[in-house]
Amino acid sequence: MCGIVGIASSKEFPIKGELLARLKKLEYRGYDSVGYATSDGICEKGVGELVKFIERVKDGKARTAIAHTRWATHGGVTEANAHPHSDCKGNLFIVHNGIIENYEEMKKDLERKGHKFRTQTDSEAIAHFLEEKMGKGMEKAMQEFMKDAKGTFAVLAIRKGDEKIYAMKRDSPLALGLANGEMILGSDIYAFSDKTNKAIFFDDEEYAIIDAKGYEFFDSKGKKVKKEIKEFTWARQEESKHEHPHYMIKEIHEQPVAAERLIRSLEADQAQKVEKLVNMMKEADRVLFVAAGTSYFASLLGVYFLNKAGLKAQTLIASEFENFMYADKTTLVIAVSQSGETMDAVTALKFAKGKGARIASLVNVPHSTIQRMSEVSLEICAGQEVCVAATKTFTNQVVALLFLASKFGFHADFEGLPLQIEKTIASNEGKVKELAKKLKDRNDIYILGRGLSYPSAREFAHKLKEIAYVHAEGMMAGELKHGTLALIEDGTPVFSLIPNGDADMASNTKEVEARGADVILVSSMPGSQFQIPTTNRGIFAILSVIIGQLLAYYIARERGLPIDKPRNLAKSVTVK
Ligand code: G6P
Repeated sequence: MCGIVGIASSKEFPIKGELLARLKKLEYRGYDSVGYATSDGICEKGVGELVKFIERVKDGKARTAIAHTRWATHGGVTEANAHPHSDCKGNLFIVHNGIIENYEEMKKDLERKGHKFRTQTDSEAIAHFLEEKMGKGMEKAMQEFMKDAKGTFAVLAIRKGDEKIYAMKRDSPLALGLANGEMILGSDIYAFSDKTNKAIFFDDEEYAIIDAKGYEFFDSKGKKVKKEIKEFTWARQEESKHEHPHYMIKEIHEQPVAAERLIRSLEADQAQKVEKLVNMMKEADRVLFVAAGTSYFASLLGVYFLNKAGLKAQTLIASEFENFMYADKTTLVIAVSQSGETMDAVTALKFAKGKGARIASLVNVPHSTIQRMSEVSLEICAGQEVCVAATKTFTNQVVALLFLASKFGFHADFEGLPLQIEKTIASNEGKVKELAKKLKDRNDIYILGRGLSYPSAREFAHKLKEIAYVHAEGMMAGELKHGTLALIEDGTPVFSLIPNGDADMASNTKEVEARGADVILVSSMPGSQFQIPTTNRGIFAILSVIIGQLLAYYIARERGLPIDKPRNLAKSVTVK
């Protein structure tokens, strides 16, 4: 979380049109507050959305500047706590993504030495620490910081009158884009992907000194490091909303195209990687998935597909992986992550690697941390997803998992899938819109699933929570009678996701109906409120979730909520 940007350019650039425009591309990482600082010593910050900040602040020019968009961890959402933070004299400015765990200790020590702190953040300690050590030069100061600091950080620092950017990294992501006459630092490639497709990715315990002409990388002790320049491809047209009012609905409608692109890529460009991963899966004693949020529900579907195809697979929420999963050298751990940066997943992978497990992944963002940690990594080719809530990336994660399972014998018709997604949207969107008007004031909605439709029910509910702020529960239909049934009363909305011919699901649905629930059927059966055009169970899992995506979107619209940037959330969660 938190997005950081730094630009060092040979020519002056406009703050609003260049620096803040780049920051805007990272806003999905956090949107509590924003700020920037230039090498002329100008520093502006503010609470709330970037567009409002841009309206408010005076424009200016700079050749070297840094900026930050915050997802608050330490210290409330106030202007003082917004980044950049400066040293006592206002000569040095830093932006930080991560958490300095020993900041209280550092702060006490620095206060004893006379430093005056102005914020409640952990990050401010970095500015004063560097100021304190600056006597020995900026490089030594950074080396000492990296030695003393505990926790995670991607830090950019600039000094008044100095056209260099000083960068340090441990655990939190940081990349350097190499553009013409310009060096652009960013938390991820989105910060510069419109200008260059050449980037250098910081590894842990590295620092760098960057100016318009070039860069030098060092390990934390000051030894020069030679870095490889990586190239990436990215579909730029996906950055705009086009005719849609929100990114979420645009991304829902992109699903047929995104799925088609992935299927083609898995069959051709990524065919060798698929083969390698399939072999790794065959060689392993068992396959463990690790993921968070929406990606977890996708991985749960992956487990279903693979187990049915005869492969031992399990999954667990990343933040609990160490506590409940056993891994050793016979284990293959596959991380499923849109961003490829989720700290919970990164931590779980480090744990598994430490136990000797092999690592693979499914990611959307190329060259992300998780991809770089993996022996083999499939890209899900969904294109940039801007809305904080995942839609097209969920679908593509499931398609990729289905594709892998098909190599072990799980049947799915990939050719027909893009069209089926299109049909599902076209034939149901109007009805969902109407239903959203009726459900907009409901506080509790239940979604029932069983077997393969259970993960879909969880993801359906997840969308309603994230985007529409509705308390929604995705339930195992068979488990309802063991407790939750007590909550069902006259008129309680219950969605039932019934895969073709699932008799148990049908009778569980009757049980809630008998208790007065207002049952809404999502199935391939004629007469269902929301008809899913497939009898294939794997495909049903994908299509039934699309009803949930649309419902969350239209309820949120009815409620007037900030759909693309739901409160308290961020798209890329790089803290534990
Ligand atoms: C955050 C987002 C979720 C996402 C989860 C996992 O919590 O708000 O939408 O599902 O992270 O993200 P990942 O990038 O690992 O898929």
